[in-house]
Amino acid sequence: MTTNDAFISIRNVGKSYGTFRAIDSVSMDIAHGEFFSLLGASGCGKTTLLRMLAGFESVSSGEIFIDGQPMSDVPPYRRPVNMVFQNYAIFPHLNVAQNIGYGLRKLKLPRAKQDQMVDEMLDLVQLSGYGKRRGHELSGGQRQRIALARALILKPKVLLLDEPLGALDKQLREQMQMELRRLQRAIGITFVFVTHDQEEALTLSDRIAVMSGGAVLQVDSPSALYEVPKTRDVASFIGNMNFLDAKVTGCVNGHAHLDVQGIGRLDFPSAGTTLTEGDKVSVAIRPEKLVLHDTAPVNGSKAIAGEIALTTYLGERSHYQVRVPGCDTPIAISTQNIRMHKPQEATIGRPVWLTWSDDALIVLER
Ligand SMILES: Nc1ncnc2c1ncn2[C@@H]1O[C@H](COP(=O)(O)OP(=O)(O)O)[C@@H](O)[C@H]1O
Ligand SMILES: [Mg+2]
Repeated sequence: MTTNDAFISIRNVGKSYGTFRAIDSVSMDIAHGEFFSLLGASGCGKTTLLRMLAGFESVSSGEIFIDGQPMSDVPPYRRPVNMVFQNYAIFPHLNVAQNIGYGLRKLKLPRAKQDQMVDEMLDLVQLSGYGKRRGHELSGGQRQRIALARALILKPKVLLLDEPLGALDKQLREQMQMELRRLQRAIGITFVFVTHDQEEALTLSDRIAVMSGGAVLQVDSPSALYEVPKTRDVASFIGNMNFLDAKVTGCVNGHAHLDVQGIGRLDFPSAGTTLTEGDKVSVAIRPEKLVLHDTAPVNGSKAIAGEIALTTYLGERSHYQVRVPGCDTPIAISTQNIRMHKPQEATIGRPVWLTWSDDALIVLER
């Protein structure tokens, strides 16, 4: 995406609380209608960034643009955004319809028009017929849908959601994830969604900004983050990853020769990389991209030889740890149990060989 397509443009934005730097000069562009997530561990600055978008926090440096307009002098109530919080407080003295219609009061619309808008919202969040109920007569998921409807009734161009599903149990959370995605598609507005749950971010988002310690590590689609992480931090934060220490022993004819722990010599295309002789790097591979064999490959192709150190049977899949001579940490493998799982195949100490397809390996700076 180019800056020209950006609906929200965050340019070198930093935030300090006294001497503490909560956000360290981040830049990113979010397109109109995008489901965009901020993902990172607790304390990395997600809420701070969201509150700056909403205007509840000032920026210490840089500028935020929404729909082409600089936001620095625009108060929260003038911004084309609305926010949904984790602790979706719905007013206990009001019923569902009054809660959803709360923001309409100041618009002084005719009664019939207000009722119609509330009905549309009830319909959108699939709670038609619940208008007269009170907060305590609703489930957690229903209350969260009311909070969404209340935020959407004023038709903001951007909805900011700060861990909105964090308080729900797993089953309800998964149900609400589908609901959110459906809602966002149906109304086509831009969502900026905060979560510390990587699976949730992968499930929901068009693109994700991975954050750590107030910085943005990578902004990409879920599949790009998973398949081609650009740093070791991103690779280990999203999903599980094996890292093998390696050293670049030479670069010849567009190929880098690597000496890889547990494998030996491997060649990688070096075009477009900064790989140089002498570099210490990591070769990364996902557990599910390794194939487990009980005999050495016959055609002389590369394999990692080791022995099973641990097996975990999970029904649909099994996880193995394979100890490899010369590697400090065992290598993790995940296999789908397509055939019947036979316990004897997973005996601790059994010799095994691991193979992979070339495009499964990623070289990262160490
Ligand atoms: N008002 C504040 N004063 C001082 N420090 C703050 C304030 N708000 C947040 N912080 C700090 O900024 C960092 C980022 O916080 P936050 O944005 O809430 O993280 P996240 O939402 O990713 O968990 C944390 O270290 C937090 O303690
Ligand atoms: Mg937070």
